[in-house]
Amino acid sequence: PEPNGDYDLTKPITSTSGLRQGLTSYGDAHFSLFLRKVFIKALGYSEDALSRPIVGIINTFSGFNPCHANVPQLIEAVKRGVHLNGGLAVEFPTISVHESFSHPTSMFLRNLMSMDTEEMIRAQPLDACIMIGGCDKTVPAQLMGGISANKPILPLITGPMLPGSHRGKRIGACTDCRNNWAAFRAGEIDVGEISAVNEELAPTIGTCGVMGTASTMACVTAALGMMPLRGASAPAVSSARLRIAEETGANAVAVAKSSRKPQDILTKESFFNAITVLQAIGGSTNAVVHLLAIANRHPELEGVITLQTFEEIGRKTPLLIDLKPSGDNYMNDFHNAGGMAALLQVLRPLLHLSAMTITGQTLGEVLDLAQAKRVSFPQQIIRPLSDPLHPSSSLVVLRGNLAPNGAIMKASASKDRSLLTHTGPAMVFENSVDLSQRIDDPDLPVTKDSVLVLKGIGPIGNPGMPEAGLIPIPKKLAMAGVKDMLRLSDGRMSGTAGGTIALHISPEAAIPDSPFGAVETGDMITCDIETRRIHVGVSDEVLQSRILQRKQRLEGETGPVQERKKRRGYRGLYERSVNQAHQGTDFDFLTAGGA
Ligand code: FES
Ligand code: MG
Repeated sequence: PEPNGDYDLTKPITSTSGLRQGLTSYGDAHFSLFLRKVFIKALGYSEDALSRPIVGIINTFSGFNPCHANVPQLIEAVKRGVHLNGGLAVEFPTISVHESFSHPTSMFLRNLMSMDTEEMIRAQPLDACIMIGGCDKTVPAQLMGGISANKPILPLITGPMLPGSHRGKRIGACTDCRNNWAAFRAGEIDVGEISAVNEELAPTIGTCGVMGTASTMACVTAALGMMPLRGASAPAVSSARLRIAEETGANAVAVAKSSRKPQDILTKESFFNAITVLQAIGGSTNAVVHLLAIANRHPELEGVITLQTFEEIGRKTPLLIDLKPSGDNYMNDFHNAGGMAALLQVLRPLLHLSAMTITGQTLGEVLDLAQAKRVSFPQQIIRPLSDPLHPSSSLVVLRGNLAPNGAIMKASASKDRSLLTHTGPAMVFENSVDLSQRIDDPDLPVTKDSVLVLKGIGPIGNPGMPEAGLIPIPKKLAMAGVKDMLRLSDGRMSGTAGGTIALHISPEAAIPDSPFGAVETGDMITCDIETRRIHVGVSDEVLQSRILQRKQRLEGETGPVQERKKRRGYRGLYERSVNQAHQGTDFDFLTAGGA
């Protein structure tokens, strides 16, 4: 072979490409490059291949992750796009997190996945990185890590599953998982039928097919300008999904060449657009936590995007998408109705069109191009601004003496709207175990007007903040036909669930001076959607003295606060470092400010 210019000791290595950056981890910069090439050549790459922009592809395939089962095919299509456009595609693994196989919760692992993603993007000689993922916590974890690493990143979503069918009715994970289970609990369907339903709820691979967290994060990622608009909704099993993968490969080469980094692309306006979409789709409450965590990874946006931003944008934004759990349909219906391109055309007056996107075009330019190609047709899934499903504020932010740092409610998914303004006596459960032991007790003193309160499922209290906020209706009330009650917790709820449920109460009960932690059974609790108030009807003095007593118990020598200081491993790190829901439940040392 020819003598290689890379080894000319008289010249500094000036290339900024990943492989050639003057990283001196092995002595001098030239020797470092020399060694890196020794080892990558073991894989059979030629000098020609290694002279191309290197596009890393994050492979999150796992035998335990049906939401990512199409990742191998997507990688093949991505590689085609990269290679046809003159790049070199190199795949590598990170951890894979599926909702149902992530004990104790997938949220517990989200921050770990974000660290894995951030450090592997930083560590390896990539010029751009395609991050393939889809299941609920994956896309947030990848965006968090990718923004912190701040190399060019391109999310590629795995896509939603198709709905199944039961007795002539469409069903799909996981809103119908919950509806059918509730019907089974209430004795409306028998064990034979619930078994048949179990076979059909996830009839294909892909992410949950309703507007749950996965679909929400897919739409929000497109609204942030980070991926092609069709990439939010094309089914996991469609050929369109593979073409989007190929296009993402092509985009990655261009992004690598222009070195467009996420911290350059993403601005306040990008997040305003994302939050507008979140409100318009009746998206998952989890997306609030994720978007806060994502924004707080950006040095210029940390603390700029807050719960108040969601509230203010919500007041201006109608709910336009008729998808479960707020409406009736499935993600493939949204895709067939035109998906994000059609939705953003409708939302156009509410969007910041100058926001930048991954291709270097503004959002306005992307929408102009999409509009030129678009054929509109009558459909019921994406409503016009003049005929919304819900006039505004599908997600609301509540505050009051019960939640000084805020709480979230998906008002559009309430099943009994009279509960949106309601006062009733609290029935308090101290934690999930207490709940499971007593909720179906025939003697539990509750009526349909009681307010069910579940403590101890916040980020610290039950590490990972489980999706236990959908407190079941006590069996005796469910049997009597009660479908919804006002329910409160410091935990989360699945994006596929519905009901009149206040979540993410901050500060959580595990924090010694949390007022929420001091609520007792019998206290009168008021939730008022009009004034956005969540209030416990006890005097300040009583509340303060309860807090003081509780604090002594929690901080005492054998109390949980001391225990947490000694806890080993990732769980110890988690409990000591996680911040509150209103900050994104990220680790304090991972936010842009890093403390
Ligand atoms: Fe993966 Fe629902 S379980 S998206
Ligand atoms: Mg979910």
